[in-house]
Amino acid sequence: MKADPATEAGLLKPENIESSLQENRTFPPPAQFSGHARIQSMEEYETLCHEAEQDYEGFWARRARSEIEWRQPFSRTLNSEHAPQYSWFEDGTLNVSVNCLDRHLATRGNRVAILFEGEQGDVRQLTYCELHAEVSRFGNALKALGVCSGDRVVIYMPMVPEAVIAMQACARIGAIHSVVFGGFSVESLKDRIEDAGAKIVITADGGHRGGKIIPLKATCDEALAHSCPTIEHVIVLKRAGNKITMAPWRDVWWHETIASQSPECAPEWISSEHPLFLLYTSGSTGKPKGIQHASAGYLLGTILTMKWVFDIRADDVFWCTADVGWVTGHSYVAYGPLACGVTLVMYEGAPSVPDYGRFWAVCERHKVSVFYTAPTAIRALIKHGEALPKRYDLSSLRLLGTVGEPINPEAWMWYHRVIGQGRCPIVDTWWQTETGVHMIAPLPGATPLKPGSCTKPLPGIAADVVDEHGVSITQPDQGGYLVIKKPWPSMLRTIWGDATRYRDTYFPKFGGRYYLSGDGARRDADGYFWIMGRVDDVLKVSGHRLGTMEIESALVAHQKVAEAAVVGRPDEVRGECVVAFVVVRGARPTGTDAQELTHELKEWVSHQIGPIARPEEIRYGDNLPKTRSGKIMRRLLRAIARGQTIEEDVSTLENPEIVRQLAEPR
Ligand code: PRX
Repeated sequence: MKADPATEAGLLKPENIESSLQENRTFPPPAQFSGHARIQSMEEYETLCHEAEQDYEGFWARRARSEIEWRQPFSRTLNSEHAPQYSWFEDGTLNVSVNCLDRHLATRGNRVAILFEGEQGDVRQLTYCELHAEVSRFGNALKALGVCSGDRVVIYMPMVPEAVIAMQACARIGAIHSVVFGGFSVESLKDRIEDAGAKIVITADGGHRGGKIIPLKATCDEALAHSCPTIEHVIVLKRAGNKITMAPWRDVWWHETIASQSPECAPEWISSEHPLFLLYTSGSTGKPKGIQHASAGYLLGTILTMKWVFDIRADDVFWCTADVGWVTGHSYVAYGPLACGVTLVMYEGAPSVPDYGRFWAVCERHKVSVFYTAPTAIRALIKHGEALPKRYDLSSLRLLGTVGEPINPEAWMWYHRVIGQGRCPIVDTWWQTETGVHMIAPLPGATPLKPGSCTKPLPGIAADVVDEHGVSITQPDQGGYLVIKKPWPSMLRTIWGDATRYRDTYFPKFGGRYYLSGDGARRDADGYFWIMGRVDDVLKVSGHRLGTMEIESALVAHQKVAEAAVVGRPDEVRGECVVAFVVVRGARPTGTDAQELTHELKEWVSHQIGPIARPEEIRYGDNLPKTRSGKIMRRLLRAIARGQTIEEDVSTLENPEIVRQLAEPR
């Protein structure tokens, strides 16, 4: 029977998230997993959890010894002396790139490591041997440009193999990469380069996305003009062939820098705690935080979760659709799959080119067996109906995954039925930039699935839901703070250059003992976790993390804006969208003036931060609703943005009449 698109669209309503409370469908592991996966039953899962509870350090030490190739083995597992600055395996030495590449050369050097497809249909393959040679060449090129161990390198690239090559080359020589998502614009790039004190930017002339060329080099030139004094060179990959300007004293072509380099590059042996990368992410202040990850603990986390959660097999073709600009593209594109020696698929472009069947065309063409994407992508695809995926042979798929935001049960069911054809388990993985890797997620051979729940914490992960006082909430379905009660190897180590902010942001409560995730959650009677979303001023737009303050700072940087407040509004496809309330300098604009300014401000935010931060709607007021102490009442703004009637008494506000003005229909 053909599904009615209108019914399908109806399934998308965000209110369905609420319906998760009534969710009682369960899906036991299918036979091909329960008898064959690495972890085959809940008993086995409980045994692992028990092992970790009894001997926490031993649990991690045993896995670190067996999963990582060490140059020099470690003798100390966890150092908590300077908590919350934890160190793991600190006296061991290794190289992450050796663990991702060299370790496979003898046994599977001719296996395809990267299977790349460009938006325009160009396909490229790199075997492990070829990737190793490219990474080595580029590592040598970086060294020739004066990059040393510990130097910061910003990577601002399209989703092409060279992005992974650049990351791996940094890891090989001990440089610390900081990837900036190619969808970010001038100010975001500039802030990140400056905060990291980077020496080099690696970029491309342009990248293909949505049928357009994203002018990465031009954005980079704008960011570097009159700022970023630490930058010595810009390395430019020729990708889109668009016209760019090269600054001869600073800019070099990728192909020229590697031309005379050897395909062998001796790895830099670094200590376990050597920073592997910085990744900037939004928090509740205007300034993004440079989340700093260490080497060995992070690597261990990626390998274990590839094995536990994706139950990865030697012959898998693994496709994580995330961009390398996000943490998902670090852990499950650039590091995890390579460390496990499988074939990873990289796709450069948008899911809508030439139509919304592109994901399924890629799955069919490359025989993808494990597919990992975001709920927002699934919801966008649902909108375009079942006929598109049905045109493709998806029989190679054996496991599906989601990440980035809660998935509403009906979208889960669609993914399971239409894409997984009822055959593939779905792993809904809860984690964060800060946690490095999956924390709460099903084990496909063990955990019965419930649509919309990320199920249970992985072995060794002390996740809990606690109340205001840090006391564990045992009452089923009662919401609280999602915390992690013990340090774990892949956790962030600090915020780059700001240990105080690290402590204040993640360990501010409960005597500094628990890691505070910033998410609310509840646990049902079976102990399953249900994520209820952020409890801070962070938005999730299409699964991307944006701070309301960041967007507000961008708005007030515009000469016509005096004050701004930004809130999120539920959105069918994107999860949330941005609504801005603006007070201008001078008279409040109305009619065409308001329309013109709205257009100008939307463009402005896109240019400052990136198109993902572009407000969906802008409302103007003579003021913002404030308490008598001057605090903006965001709760009221959220209600206005959702078109709800304000029932609460606003008479205690400094300026109660403003609520009516902002809520005026337009
Ligand atoms: O709110 C949670 C949501 O994404 C946040 C982390 O965002 P970011 O650091 O950008 O990392 C995204 C990719 C790991 C979390 O605080 N989130 C992530 N995964 C899930 C989720 N919410 C519900 N269910 C998930 N599976």
